[in-house]
Amino acid sequence: MKDLISISDLSRDEVEAILERDDSFVEVSEREIKKVPALRGKTVVTLFYESSTRTSSSFELAAKRLSADVVSVKASGSAVDKGESLKDTVETLSAYGPAAIVLRHPSAGAARLLSQWVDASVINAGDGMSQHPSQALLDVYTLRSRVGSLEGLKIWIVGDVLHSRVARSNIQAFGLMGAEVTVAGPPTLIPLDVEELGCRVEYSLDGMEEADVVYLLRMQNERMEGNFVPSLREYARLFQLNEQRLGPRQLVMHPGPVNRGVEIAPSVIDCEQSLIADQVAAGLVVRMAIFYELLVGGDTVRTGPEPVPTIGEPA
Ligand code: CP
Repeated sequence: MKDLISISDLSRDEVEAILERDDSFVEVSEREIKKVPALRGKTVVTLFYESSTRTSSSFELAAKRLSADVVSVKASGSAVDKGESLKDTVETLSAYGPAAIVLRHPSAGAARLLSQWVDASVINAGDGMSQHPSQALLDVYTLRSRVGSLEGLKIWIVGDVLHSRVARSNIQAFGLMGAEVTVAGPPTLIPLDVEELGCRVEYSLDGMEEADVVYLLRMQNERMEGNFVPSLREYARLFQLNEQRLGPRQLVMHPGPVNRGVEIAPSVIDCEQSLIADQVAAGLVVRMAIFYELLVGGDTVRTGPEPVPTIGEPA
């Protein structure tokens, strides 16, 4: 695998290969010296045209923990402000000879386009409303760590599905791993034909008692033109996950950032059934595994007696 652009490009075996590596990087993350030499001598560029806290920081730290040299560029404050195009910016950064470019961009398809321009591995860190594959992989890893297998698991994805790249990636990834996915929200926030991604649709939370996992999405106001709900208060009345709606055996997930008191009640964010902090922690190890898979990879490592035999020594 050279690039990570979309979950739809991956087979279940390829997802499993990344997940198998994750435990090795959990072990590295628990060491006193949390750094290994796997990417020593390689350069990773992170290029973010949209705001990010979790994805940008975890990709940067993952690359550093693997001993890569990291160049982090945010569009705001860079030559992009002066009108430089994506292609020209990438050509400039390519002068450093990156092994990988991590791109977040507001346009769907930007990462795929970039992969046609450069020899480096391209990792899609979110392209418009299209895909956020590393989020989906870390969510699968988080859930597997808690419940063992996603086979037959009932997962409800609730909220602004229309504007959500996380929803699109996760419907595909959860489905690939055997889960039964339902999306729920007001009709204005559910895309037409979303069932084609492999999910069922509900326009209310009636029936959500069946869910093993409730995965919440925030309102993506930055992608909205006009009003999609009468008011946030009305939306919260009908769709907020609060203590009354949360069943005793249900797990709660959210990709972040959360809007407390809108899609999720503050008490639910921090309750014992919440995996939200686990998702953030998983972001680091899963992104280390993604770098390893793309930049080192290879079947001999994947199938050997030790999952990642070359990362054992401290850097
Ligand atoms: N989940 C996610 O993509 O968060 P950031 O926007 O903070 O990266």
